[in-house]
Formats: sequence, structure tokens, C-alpha cells
Amino acid sequence: MNLSKKVLYTIGFLVSVGLLFSVAGVSGSTPAEEEYDEDTYGPSELMVWNTPVPRVTFSHKVHTMDAGLDCDSCHDDLFEMESGAVVDKGDFTMQSFTDGNYCGACHDGDMAFSTDSPDMCSACHSAPNTIVFTKPVKAVIFDHKMHVEDMGFNCGDCHSDLFKMHIGSAEENPDAFIMEALYNGEYCGACHDGDSAFASDTRCTTCHIGVMGFDRLFGHGEKKGGH
Ligand code: HEC
Ligand code: HEC
Ligand code: HEC
Ligand code: HEC
Ligand code: HEC
Ligand code: HEC
Repeated sequence: MNLSKKVLYTIGFLVSVGLLFSVAGVSGSTPAEEEYDEDTYGPSELMVWNTPVPRVTFSHKVHTMDAGLDCDSCHDDLFEMESGAVVDKGDFTMQSFTDGNYCGACHDGDMAFSTDSPDMCSACHSAPNTIVFTKPVKAVIFDHKMHVEDMGFNCGDCHSDLFKMHIGSAEENPDAFIMEALYNGEYCGACHDGDSAFASDTRCTTCHIGVMGFDRLFGHGEKKGGH
């Protein structure tokens, strides 16, 4: 009984999907994934760079199929046809884009949105949600999503003056990444000063989740440097 119900639901679902497809077909646009042809539009998988900062992506589909650009608007003048090749050039940076190179050849606020506009950073960059610091003390929680979406900060409010776009950068200097520095307006203390946000010498446990909080997040008894 249960099984046949499941089968019926499945068939019902397939039929509605089929209907959707045929309606889309009538209006002239079929679902993108079906139509995407790598020979015509370039690689379907996202290009991903992690140097100098992690989590930057580029979609061929957006540029060829959607924006209608030809291969030779980028290849090989701006980019070689080899994933990651540009990283070796050593100047694949925001400043270089502002000077009109690479992505900046088009992303100049004229032909396409500017690389300088604070609202657009996250179109190319993705931030990890929760970061947990464990040095010098375990453990302090920082929530990207909350600071960006709920509190309305832009990426540029923190990057790269207060923090590098690299988990672990601040912790590389455990002698500097300390409460004293926060009290002096560095790192989190640029905002957590009792003015823009609650002061760093109050509400300790809002930031400090402690060892138990860490274990709750990552599983009890996890060993550092384990798997
Ligand atoms: C808007 C710019 C742009 C356009 C237009 C474009 N590409 Fe690319 N393409 C890139 C970038 C950026 C890379 C990655 C280069 C790097 O990482 O050094 C790339 C990489 C590639 C690669 C290497 C993929 C790999 O995994 O090594 C191929 C193949 C490729 N493109 C084919 C095409 C084809 C075919 C077209 C036209 C249908 C096209 N590209 C149009 C920007 C573009
Ligand atoms: C040859 C011109 C050209 C180059 C080079 C180029 N873009 Fe674009 N890009 C466009 C155009 C045109 C659009 C669509 C119009 C717009 O969104 O402003 C676009 C759109 C985008 C989008 C928007 C996707 C969305 O959410 O709709 C992203 C992200 C993006 N480009 C990233 C990049 C990155 C990263 C690079 C460099 C690796 C790059 N582009 C290089 C022309 C270019
Ligand atoms: C059109 C896409 C695009 C937009 C928009 C963009 N970036 Fe980038 N960004 C890149 C690419 C591509 C790289 C180099 C690849 C990498 O680091 O993985 C990069 C590198 C960086 C770097 C490290 C290199 C450097 O120049 O210091 C920082 C920091 C950075 N971006 C911050 C930002 C901020 C802040 C914004 C918004 C104001 C922004 N980016 C908007 C594509 C973009
Ligand atoms: C309120 C401050 C703040 C804002 C706003 C912010 N970040 Fe971050 N971000 C951080 C901190 C703190 C780190 C960790 C730095 C460290 O460990 O030294 C970080 C790290 C990162 C990393 C490195 C991730 C990794 O895997 O190493 C990326 C990428 C990043 N941020 C992207 C973004 C983007 C994109 C935005 C805008 C949507 C943004 N950030 C907005 C504070 C911020
Ligand atoms: C660009 C400003 C800015 C920076 C930098 C910043 N914060 Fe915040 N943060 C805020 C604001 C604004 C709030 C919300 C206002 C308030 O609660 O006082 C907030 C709230 C929080 C909260 C409370 C969330 C909740 O549950 O209510 C925590 C925890 C937090 N921040 C941790 C950090 C840590 C850790 C850092 C440094 C790694 C940091 N913040 C850096 C502006 C910032
Ligand atoms: C806005 C967030 C925030 C608040 C509030 C906060 N801290 Fe911290 N604390 C941090 C960060 C970030 C670090 C450095 C990263 C780490 O040690 O994991 C740190 C590190 C520390 C350290 C080790 C470094 C040092 O200075 O000796 C101690 C001890 C500490 N905090 C105690 C406290 C106490 C006590 C309070 C409350 C009076 C407090 N913290 C409130 C964010 C905060």
C-alpha cells in the first residue's frame, strides 16, 4: 500500500515536471541544464580559485549562454584555456582588476558590474558561514551570515583591513590576537567597542563558546588534527 502510494506520487511528480517542461517548451525556453552544450558554451563545471583567497568562482554558462559572449572575448587574450593558469601570473588581484585586467576588462561598472562595488563582492566570493577560533583560547565563534545578512555589513567592512580573507590568518599571531588588541579597537574590537556593537569586555560568553561549545559543534572528543 505504502509502496504503491509512493509510486503514484512519483508518477504524479514526473507528470507535473513533464508538464512544466512542455509549458517551458511552448514559451521557447527549455530548462538550462538540458540545453547546456559544452562545445558551444565552454566547461559546465565552475572554475574555482583558492589563491590568493579561497572560494572565488567563475561560471562559463553565465558568460556565454546567458550573457552571449564569444569564447574569444576572453580566450586567449585575458585568460588561457586552462583552469588555474592565471594564478601563476602573480597579479590576479583586485587592484589588477581595477586597472582593467582579467575580470576587470569587463567588470568596470560599464559593461558589467564593477569589482569595486561593495554590494557585489559576494557575486564572485563566497564566505563560509561559521568560523570558530581556537587560538589562543578555545573557542570563539564568528558568524559570517549573521554579520552580513542580519547586521548588513559589507565584505569590505572587514576585508581586508581588519581580517584577511583566510581562516587562520589572525590565529597565526596568537600573541597579537588577544583581548587587549580588541579593547584597543583592533580585529572584532573595531566594532565591538560598546558603540557600534556590544563591548568586548562584556558578554564574554556570547563570543566565547568554550570547549564544551566547541564539542557541541564538532562532536565530542574530536582530536585536533585528527581525520
Ligand atoms: C568571460 C570570460 C570567458 C569566456 C567568454 C569564455 N571563457 Fe573559458 N575560461 C575563462 C576563465 C576565467 C577560465 C579559467 C582560466 C584560469 O583559471 O586560468 C577559463 C577556462 C576555460 C577552459 C579550461 C577548463 C579546464 O578545466 O582546464 C576551457 C576548455 C574553456 N575555458 C573553454 C571556453 C570556451 C569553449 C568558450 C566559449 C564557448 C569560453 N571558454 C568562453 C573565461 C572565459
Ligand atoms: C569579456 C567580458 C567579461 C569578463 C572578462 C568577465 N566577465 Fe563576468 N560578466 C560579464 C557580463 C557581460 C556579465 C553579465 C552582466 C552583468 O551581470 O553585469 C557578467 C556577469 C558576471 C557574474 C554575475 C553572475 C550572476 O549572478 O548573474 C559574475 C559572478 C561574474 N560575471 C564573474 C566574473 C569573474 C570572476 C570574472 C573573471 C574571472 C569575469 N566575470 C570576467 C562580462 C565579463
Ligand atoms: C567579478 C568578480 C569579483 C568581484 C565582484 C570581487 N572580487 Fe575579489 N577577487 C576576484 C578574483 C577572481 C580574485 C583572485 C582569485 C582568488 O583570490 O582566489 C579576487 C581576489 C580578492 C582578494 C585577494 C587578492 C587581493 O586583491 O588582495 C581580496 C581581498 C578580494 N578579492 C576582496 C574583494 C572584495 C572586498 C570585493 C568587493 C568590494 C571583491 N573582492 C569583489 C573576483 C572578484
Ligand atoms: C564582520 C566582519 C566580516 C565581514 C562583514 C565579512 N567577513 Fe569574511 N571573514 C571574517 C573573519 C573574522 C574571517 C576569518 C579570518 C581569520 O581567520 O583570520 C573571515 C574569513 C573569510 C574568508 C576565508 C574563508 C576560508 O575558507 O579561509 C572568506 C572567503 C571570506 N571571509 C569572505 C567574505 C565575504 C565574501 C564577505 C561578504 C559577503 C565577508 N567575508 C564579510 C570577517 C568578516
Ligand atoms: C564591522 C563590525 C563588526 C565586526 C568587525 C565584528 N562584529 Fe560582531 N557584531 C557586530 C554587530 C553590529 C553586532 C550586533 C549588535 C550587537 O549585538 O551589539 C554583532 C554581533 C555579534 C555577536 C552576537 C550574535 C548574537 O547571537 O546576538 C557575536 C557572537 C559577534 N558579533 C562576534 C564577533 C566576533 C568574534 C568578531 C571578530 C572575529 C566580530 N563579531 C566582529 C559588528 C561587528
Ligand atoms: C566580540 C567577541 C568577544 C568578546 C565579547 C570577548 N572575547 Fe575574548 N576573545 C575573542 C577573540 C576573537 C579572541 C582571540 C581568538 C581566540 O583566542 O580563540 C579572544 C581571546 C580571549 C582570551 C585569550 C587571549 C588573551 O587576551 O589572553 C581570553 C583570556 C579572553 N578572550 C577572555 C575574554 C573575557 C574574560 C571576556 C569578557 C570580559 C571576553 N574574552 C569577551 C573575542 C571576544
